[in-house]
Amino acid sequence: MESSELLEKLRQKQIQALAGGGEDKIQKQHEGGKLTARERIARLLDIDSFMEIDRFKVHRCTDFGMADQKIPGDGVITGHGMIHGRQVFVFAQDFTVFGGSLSLAHSEKICKIMNTAMKTGVPVIGLCDSGGARIQEGVMSLAGYADIFLLNVMASGVIPQITAIMGPSAGGAVYSPALTDWIFMVEKTSHMFITGPEVIKAVTREVVSKEDLGGAMAHNSKSGVAHFSAADDSACLDMIRELMSFLPRNNMEDPPRITPSDDPGRRDESLREIVPADPNKPYDIRDIVRPCMDDRYFFEVHQHWARNIVVGFGRLDGMPVGVVANQPNVMAGCLDIDASIKGARFVRFCDAFNIPLIVYEDVPGFLPGSHQEHGGIIKHGAKLIYAFCEATVPRITVITRKAYGGAYIVMNSKHIRGDVNLSFPGAEIAVMGADGAVNIISRREIKAASDQEAERKRLIEDYRDKFSNPYKAAELGYIDDVIDPADTRMQLIQYLRMLRNKRDVNPAKKHGNIPL
Ligand code: HXC
Repeated sequence: MESSELLEKLRQKQIQALAGGGEDKIQKQHEGGKLTARERIARLLDIDSFMEIDRFKVHRCTDFGMADQKIPGDGVITGHGMIHGRQVFVFAQDFTVFGGSLSLAHSEKICKIMNTAMKTGVPVIGLCDSGGARIQEGVMSLAGYADIFLLNVMASGVIPQITAIMGPSAGGAVYSPALTDWIFMVEKTSHMFITGPEVIKAVTREVVSKEDLGGAMAHNSKSGVAHFSAADDSACLDMIRELMSFLPRNNMEDPPRITPSDDPGRRDESLREIVPADPNKPYDIRDIVRPCMDDRYFFEVHQHWARNIVVGFGRLDGMPVGVVANQPNVMAGCLDIDASIKGARFVRFCDAFNIPLIVYEDVPGFLPGSHQEHGGIIKHGAKLIYAFCEATVPRITVITRKAYGGAYIVMNSKHIRGDVNLSFPGAEIAVMGADGAVNIISRREIKAASDQEAERKRLIEDYRDKFSNPYKAAELGYIDDVIDPADTRMQLIQYLRMLRNKRDVNPAKKHGNIPL
């Protein structure tokens, strides 16, 4: 064949691959408010950076008339490209081709990029829009899922893995996303569930809509399965780009430092006024977090679930940091089951990927109640202790107000390898609040007093003087310094510089046994 003919044949094949499931199906995708797989990749990556792999791959199924139905690419587009000039691997399921369903060939394409991503230390981003296992292939497609699950686990903690659910995700197929680090969902168009509304109705008679069962907000605010909710495909892809700007490409790299545009010595006197004088009054911890970060920018993650703890990313003098903060505005910042799980998972992610941790602490303790006890707060709270104890990244704590009881220990205290522990001058570091303490230890004295209320007040004041301040802990060296809140940013930056070359190790082991 002439070379011109060869090139023409190649061109025709390329056109066929680009057409996906055809114009009608693409139109249906758009009518449903969704971008196509190729449009999503183009939006996600830096302009013209995408290089496709396996665009001609097809399935090998011959049952149910499938031998005649072969579409190049087989329902998933795979390849690599750049985000902010840094390499990523990406796969995008193409709902216009067999409903984006997963055949063995489809899974082989995903596994190929995952294997290369692990060898080259590059993150993988999956854009999911799929009817699940390719029904015509039967167990072959299940084998394909299993291959992906295995690689998800092998890649965990080696390269960041990000999933965006941008359509259906049902049955066992949800477990690949669940094994990755971050799940994004798109409002109204994405759904995740193990069994859908029809099966639920048949088995339990419960009637529930698809949206209430497994829509974006259901998983962002109720189950905590998803970490981000986006209004539409474009917003979702922009958020992924934003998240990527904080992450290293792999566990051997430091996170990407940018040239800072904010003054590292910037003081903020408004920080002296955020914490109310009354210890029972709430405030928004983000009003303290934001002014400390470069350009006052804080990228909150997992923001709709367990809102009594706030986690997210920011930068200090250009260096990405992970923030974990009790939120006095919600349940007084108490630690409960969900908050412990949310905090622990975030701490472990940051530790796995060398992202220093900044902890803001204002915590009255663990949430009391039989609901929490029977739900397993003991084992779930232990997750947060475990996560902090094993973390070897630089770790700085700022106690803004309360640090009571076991929660004082958990929130990155000195005793569990916190590197630098600072406190605002009004902080209370004690076993519990003064009122509760006096009621327990001075019950008899109060009962014997002629004026019981006056005696109670005197004893509370006495206890407060002794313990409800940061100085007892500072005298013992449990707090490294008591600082003017206006200097928090400056202090954090200086201590982070001090810790830049920190190296710490845990004992060699196969793996620990985190209380799951
Ligand atoms: C093969 C599939 C498919 C599948 C959809 N299609 N799902 N083909 N295998 N799993 C095809 C349809 O036949 C159709 O082809 C095209 O994709 C678009 O599907 P529609 O039904 O027209 O689209 P829509 O109305 O938007 O509904 C989407 C849907 C529905 C909700 C996803 O298709 C559906 O319920 N699919 C089956 C879901 C399912 O039960 N999957 C198995 C889950 S269990 P044509 O040619 O007509 O356009 C599972 C196990 C994984 O995945 C286990 C891992 C361990």
